[in-house]
Amino acid sequence: MQAIVLTTFGGPESLELCDVPKPVPRAGQVLVRVHATSINPLDYQVRRGDYSDLVPVPAITGHDVSGVVEAVAPGVTAFAPGDEVWYTPQIFEGPGSYAEYHVAAESIIGKKPASLSHIEAASLTLVGGTAWEALIVRAALRVGESILVHGGAGGVGHVAIQLAKAVGARVLTTVREANFEFARSLGADVTIDYTKEDYVDAVMRETAGRGVDVVFDAIGGNTLSRSPDTLAQLGRVVTIVDTAQPQNVMQAWGKNASYHFVFTRQNRGKLDELSALVERGQLQPHVGAVYSLADIPLAHARLESRNNGVQGKIAIAVDRRLKL
Ligand SMILES: NC(=O)c1ccc[n+]([C@@H]2O[C@H](COP(=O)([O-])OP(=O)(O)OC[C@H]3O[C@@H](n4cnc5c(N)ncnc54)[C@H](OP(=O)(O)O)[C@@H]3O)[C@@H](O)[C@H]2O)c1
Repeated sequence: MQAIVLTTFGGPESLELCDVPKPVPRAGQVLVRVHATSINPLDYQVRRGDYSDLVPVPAITGHDVSGVVEAVAPGVTAFAPGDEVWYTPQIFEGPGSYAEYHVAAESIIGKKPASLSHIEAASLTLVGGTAWEALIVRAALRVGESILVHGGAGGVGHVAIQLAKAVGARVLTTVREANFEFARSLGADVTIDYTKEDYVDAVMRETAGRGVDVVFDAIGGNTLSRSPDTLAQLGRVVTIVDTAQPQNVMQAWGKNASYHFVFTRQNRGKLDELSALVERGQLQPHVGAVYSLADIPLAHARLESRNNGVQGKIAIAVDRRLKL
């Protein structure tokens, strides 16, 4: 089969298109023909060597699968050949999705929503599972509450806005002015251009000094330190960015704030929850660009560059019959 192999840690040129053996499913596993995958920051972080202790090279990376079941091993009961499925491969555990075939445990696989194409479905598994875990499971966002979504035009951010609206929350988001219309089309109530004004001042202005109930941190940097300045009493900060930057959270005490650190976990339950929202028309992944399997190095360079003009996700058409 064809796969993009990370031969050594480094720049996008470290990703090479190779012919490698097709994987064989063991007991409880499913062999899937991958139709589409997508690009996530985790992929270029792995490629650079940020997780070299967890991902030895050579390695096949990639963290989104949408495809069709080719074969099932003994013990599999929920799926059969021909089923359309979607999932996030176990992170840091074995080959990823940058390949024509992938093998995964039945327990982490979900039935692909019928209303999504493979390109769209592959653009939602990781970012959707992450936003669900952060906003619904950990921050427990409630009807009528308010949330500040950092990075609202990005992969996770554009899903977080839609989930927060599906819950019935008021959504404020930090995006460049060029993405104001996009963020509002997703349901954002307030858009803040973080390159033009201090988001803390903007949030306090837009909430009449009360602050927001939840801050969703998808950008890192000093966000953990500054978040209390945007929070209401008993507010929650939920972060998905493992930043090593030292933080000063002294202000958190005054707000009786709580912090949640999320590293997304793979399970079918979340996929089924996302699928229900998709089928109800409350969640739609936005695909900002599509590349071929062979052009994954170009897609990496694009995602890694700031202000890259991509709204939502960069998807990869693994099946050469899929339109770019
Ligand atoms: N813990 C987990 O389980 C988990 C899961 C998924 C992702 N993540 C992490 O979450 C982060 C976001 O992932 P993603 O897929 O959403 O990435 P992405 O698609 O690259 O989106 C990031 C967005 O943030 C915007 N941005 C950058 N700096 C900003 C700032 N200071 N204020 C406001 N917006 C800013 C970027 O836009 P501009 O650059 O154009 O402004 C871009 O739209 C990454 O660090 C990723 O590793 C963690």
